[in-house]
Amino acid sequence: MSMKGMSLLTLEEFSGDQITQLIDRAIELKNLKQARKFPKNLENRNFCLVFLKPSTRTRTSFVVASCDEGAHLEIFGHEDIRFGIKESVKDIARVMGRMFDGIAFRGYDHSVVEDLARYSGVPVWNGLSDDHHPTQALADLMSLKEEFGEIRGRKLAFVGDGSSNVVRSLVIAGAKTGLDFRVVSPTELQPDRATIEPYLTAADPDFRLTITEDVTEGVAGCDAIYGDIWLSMGEEHLVKHRIEILEPYRIDEAMFAKTGNAKAIFLHCLPALHDDETEFAKSHPGVIDVTDDVFEGARSRVFDQSENRMHTIKAIMVETV
Ligand code: CP
Ligand code: NVA
Repeated sequence: MSMKGMSLLTLEEFSGDQITQLIDRAIELKNLKQARKFPKNLENRNFCLVFLKPSTRTRTSFVVASCDEGAHLEIFGHEDIRFGIKESVKDIARVMGRMFDGIAFRGYDHSVVEDLARYSGVPVWNGLSDDHHPTQALADLMSLKEEFGEIRGRKLAFVGDGSSNVVRSLVIAGAKTGLDFRVVSPTELQPDRATIEPYLTAADPDFRLTITEDVTEGVAGCDAIYGDIWLSMGEEHLVKHRIEILEPYRIDEAMFAKTGNAKAIFLHCLPALHDDETEFAKSHPGVIDVTDDVFEGARSRVFDQSENRMHTIKAIMVETV
């Protein structure tokens, strides 16, 4: 079914069938690229990418996907376009809609990406807001499908900061595709139930959601443990408290032993603090969210998952433009 003209703001816009279609398309595009075949589905299209926060994976995915498909992508940093400072989001969106065939945006307040979609009239792809990270969730679903053949019924335990944008997007992704999803977090970092409730009303009948602070309960029998950095962009000042409350949620081999599943895999949206090679980890001992043996070990699929960011972003661009 056609997704032409649709924006990806939360993933809630897409049905379970459409998400399955997107994942299948991403796998097809990945196979084509591996065979060095580039169908150039987006030739003569112009896209812009406006990122107000840093990015490695999401930004490069949009760049490579556009290039592979024959489109031109213009990149704007946080100093280039200043929403709401001397021009409203609404006016900027209307100009961009006259110039570009699609807009990738990463920002803070989720309402900005909504306004961009509302007023530009072209597909807008949310490359992360404070509340949602839907392109990440698409890559996560693709990675599960590649690993297990089927997403429905897979037991995925997110462990760490359950209040993050990544978790909210996984709740939506899981509700659409029938995941058995567990959020394992200290009480104060659990997802806000009132906020996620609307995403659960029309959930797939196979969807299960468990929110617990008990690691043993949360990871029991799971197929995959999923991590995120303990401090989302802009939260760095909370580091001392986060280390105190998240210490028991550091992902390590002992946690994997609690799954009872020797084949359980490790996923992470990245960036991960898994060693002391970064300035942030050096200056904040204890902020490591996953141990190096897990990150570098045989269970880890994090770089496949990371590569899948590009294939899924390519699929959403090709299907919606
Ligand atoms: N996972 C993710 O969105 O990474 P970047 O912040 O590097 O884009
Ligand atoms: N929750 C993290 C995800 C980074 C990809 C953040 O918002 O910084």
